[in-house]
Amino acid sequence: MGSVLVSWGTALPEKVVTNHDLASYLDTSDQWVTERTGIRERRIGGSTASLSVEASQRALERVGLAGSDIDLIVLSTTTADQMVPGTSADVSAQLGTRGGAMDINAACAGFVYALVVANGMLGPNTPRALVIGADTLSRITDWDDRSTAVLFADGAGAVVLEYREGPGNLLGWDLGVDGSARRFLYCDHGSTLKMEGREVFRKAVRAVVDSCEKVLSSAGLKASDIALCVPHQANIRIIEAANERLGIPMERTAVVLDRTGNTSSGSVPLALADAADAGRINEGDLVLMCGFGAGMTWSSAILRWGS
Ligand code: ACO
Repeated sequence: MGSVLVSWGTALPEKVVTNHDLASYLDTSDQWVTERTGIRERRIGGSTASLSVEASQRALERVGLAGSDIDLIVLSTTTADQMVPGTSADVSAQLGTRGGAMDINAACAGFVYALVVANGMLGPNTPRALVIGADTLSRITDWDDRSTAVLFADGAGAVVLEYREGPGNLLGWDLGVDGSARRFLYCDHGSTLKMEGREVFRKAVRAVVDSCEKVLSSAGLKASDIALCVPHQANIRIIEAANERLGIPMERTAVVLDRTGNTSSGSVPLALADAADAGRINEGDLVLMCGFGAGMTWSSAILRWGS
């Protein structure tokens, strides 16, 4: 049993915050942020549910589906709108979906976790799932802390997965966590994100490279077989360093962080949808998605594009 990805949609808040906007009150500059991260601007606003619903509606409309055609929602987020209930319950009510709905939290690695969970749950009685990655990190960012304020933002992406008999198009995946590294990036209840950036950077490159090599080897593939790499959009230097070690050129990599900043769970589906909308992915192409985040968590998966 397996699944195929049949549609995608995204949502970004209207409000644009540029590096210059941040530099107007923080001790930073457009040059510093652009050179150290690749980020030029980000979008701020909305709730995790509202962005999830908007992205999902676009994904459904693209293939002429309604909320009632969906049998399962798996929503990846670190910024649920409430402690209880899960944001997926609100999204389900607004879309009118059937079946179950759950939130999962694996930080910025979460979208690939959600994809793997949904893929495993689909079957003849649960034929269609919405997999959503959505975060409103602006709500847990200290806007007076230049070391984090320049990085984090809001956004969402959603994909529709459909059950197919046979092995499906998710060819392999690797999920991992090292909880002993949780102190390098965390947010306590009622507080804001705290991060040791240098340490996260170092660990992220290693985790992404190891995980991608593992998933490529488990699927019997080489880096040269990958048509498009869709990495977590945290920092262009992390992406470049990991790609260099993996042997994947930047021309075969999806990048949106210059416009979106780090949207955590939203980042991989936003970059995937951007590449798909730009016609950069063709039927049969192999797409490598990978993420890393607080935990530290990491995840990677290889998807064959098309039905
Ligand atoms: N503007 C200007 N200067 C700054 C800023 C800023 N916004 N932020 C830090 N600096 C200063 C520091 O104070 C330091 O000054 P010092 O040398 O006088 O002490 C100097 O710049 C260098 O700081 P570093 O932390 O060494 O800078 P670095 O090159 O490592 O870049 C960054 C910092 C961008 C945070 C980088 O470490 C990074 O991207 N780390 C990974 C972050 C990440 O990916 N987080 C998300 C994980 S996903 C999740 O789960 C949410």
